[in-house]
Amino acid sequence: MSEKNYNRYTLTAALPYANGPVHIGHLAGVYVPADIYARYLRLKGKDVAFICGSDEHGVAIELRARKEGVTPQQVVDKYHNQIKDSFGQFGISFDIYSRTSSKTHHDTASEYFKKLYENGKFEERSSEQFYDEKENQFLADRYIKGTCPTCNFPDAYGDQCESCGSTLSPGELINPKSMLSGESPIMKETKHWYFPLNEYEDWLKKWILEDHKEWKPNVSGQCKSWLDNGLRARPMTRDLDWGIPVPVEGAEGKVLYVWFDAPIGYISATKDWAAEKGKNWEDYWKKDDTRLIHFIGKDNIVFHCVIFPALLKAEGNYILPDNVPANEFLNLESNKISTSRNWAVWLHEYLEEFPDKQDVLRYVLTANAPETKDNDFTWKDFQTRNNSELVAIFGNFVNRAIVLTHKYFEGKVPAKGALEARDQEVIDAIKTYPEKIEASMNQFKFREALNHLMDLARTGNKYLADTEPWKLIKTDEARVETIMNLALQIAGSLTILSEPFLPFTAEKLKTMLNQTNIKWDQAGTVDLLDAGQPIEKPILLFEKIEDKTVEGQVQKLMDTKKANEAEAAEPNLTPAKDEIVFDDFMKMDLRVGEILTAEKVEKSNKLLKFTVDTGLDKRTIVSGIAKHFTPEEMVGKKVVVMSNLAPRKIMGIESQGMLLFAENADGSLKAVSPADASENGATIS
Ligand code: MF3
Ligand code: ZN
Repeated sequence: MSEKNYNRYTLTAALPYANGPVHIGHLAGVYVPADIYARYLRLKGKDVAFICGSDEHGVAIELRARKEGVTPQQVVDKYHNQIKDSFGQFGISFDIYSRTSSKTHHDTASEYFKKLYENGKFEERSSEQFYDEKENQFLADRYIKGTCPTCNFPDAYGDQCESCGSTLSPGELINPKSMLSGESPIMKETKHWYFPLNEYEDWLKKWILEDHKEWKPNVSGQCKSWLDNGLRARPMTRDLDWGIPVPVEGAEGKVLYVWFDAPIGYISATKDWAAEKGKNWEDYWKKDDTRLIHFIGKDNIVFHCVIFPALLKAEGNYILPDNVPANEFLNLESNKISTSRNWAVWLHEYLEEFPDKQDVLRYVLTANAPETKDNDFTWKDFQTRNNSELVAIFGNFVNRAIVLTHKYFEGKVPAKGALEARDQEVIDAIKTYPEKIEASMNQFKFREALNHLMDLARTGNKYLADTEPWKLIKTDEARVETIMNLALQIAGSLTILSEPFLPFTAEKLKTMLNQTNIKWDQAGTVDLLDAGQPIEKPILLFEKIEDKTVEGQVQKLMDTKKANEAEAAEPNLTPAKDEIVFDDFMKMDLRVGEILTAEKVEKSNKLLKFTVDTGLDKRTIVSGIAKHFTPEEMVGKKVVVMSNLAPRKIMGIESQGMLLFAENADGSLKAVSPADASENGATIS
């Protein structure tokens, strides 16, 4: 619990896969909040290890390498450096940005596995998996392609259909083919090491649901649903080439599962960092007075809240995360961010197009962070927040305070004189801000914290507007000295309190004010700047963003969308099919049928099994529509049956024909139903 006194903080940010550049979704969901928290703790004088690095193993990387015709190492080298640069340029203040292909990591993960293995923490199990006989290789789900049982898209992957988006298991594909050789794979027995998560279920339930009631509801909700469904043993090894070799006998040609090794990457990175800094890495991972926090996106929750903690527990010497403040997803202009569809704002592109505006993006992504639900990034909102918040409130206040000081007092901080009620009021008000911001920070409510910060700038603006020093200067210079002193002190507090959110701006402020007092606990006071101390000439903190600039960005996205639609239209909508002749059409035997029975196919969440009266006979047809219809609602329906389609086996069931459905552009299905009066067996032509 956060009441406890910690002497050290280990903050981790999810290791991004080094198979592509990073975009605003990454930043908003994980890296900006993690950085805000790390910077805040450092300003509080805490001992912080802020850890990240590239996740360089896994099938996604091997596949990318195949696609680009290079080695996996070349892929990760390229993206590791690009990602590292982007983070650096956005001021994400990792203490180390490491990588999982490093020697330290290979050794650390390997030893960790070995220790669990030797302590009997794994179960060895054999199972049948798809195998490519030509390439002599077991096939990861992503290496198998076939026809999607849901939408009939011919190029669905073994884990997912990119056309209709459904999640698949390779066994569900119709006519599966190996992507390596193009051949039909066989089933072959293989051995793997399973981690019996089920044995940790009771412990996890107590630890998460009882001992950590303070976790965010989106996080505990997801954990609860996993725990309620019951945990199963999960294989921690894979038949792949790229990865960390499994360090036990009889495991030749196998590597550690990427989700086994990646979180251990946090530990390996800490080792490298500690070695360089002359610290002891174990303090950061094995001492009870260290607070471990994982910053992640919602797709990583189960790995960081269930699997990795259980692995830490199994090892026995490690501390557990005290909190996992996962965020939801950020959408872009109402659509899901997608790397493959290029629907993203890439950090490296943003930096080219908005040089020197890192803080603007950090600000917008925090103000609109997907903390409790998915949120939408729009360029319009980006512009509005910049122009009417950063420019009009923050920038305007600071600028007025500095400009007026130069105008009236030759750029030196004037001394405070006798205080009036309005001055005392503002002094009392600004005192409350560090605490308010802190309270929000401690609950990982960074948007709320940022709101408080902006309120402080508003307070400053209002103070100047109310006291009107530009009028008083003619009659009461002493009074203006006090007012400008207090205004500058407020600016000084902004330097400190804005630093976690807007580090580049804080740096400029600090320079302008020649400020040396920059500890968190000094903020909110009115003695940050000494009377007589010179300040520098104002430099621009924020500038207005014009309509044409954001229109250009929107246009860029619209162009992407058009290009995507042109491509996506092919599998989804008909015009992409080749022309056929009348005889081809006549080959199809289309008939009216009636659904007699319907049931779910076991172990599949896509497939329904029907008995259909085709007028000719009563037969079994399997169809991948379970996501769209319940068995109950299908019974009694009249449908169109393609009755002379060659029978094929789907999940072990012979399907004798096909039911026709209309698919809308959004992927929803409608049964193609003949008028009720049609008799079963009526032909359609
Ligand atoms: N690479 C994973 C992803 O992008 C995250 C890994 S986090 C770690 O989803 F725990 F494995 F490090
Ligand atoms: Zn599909």
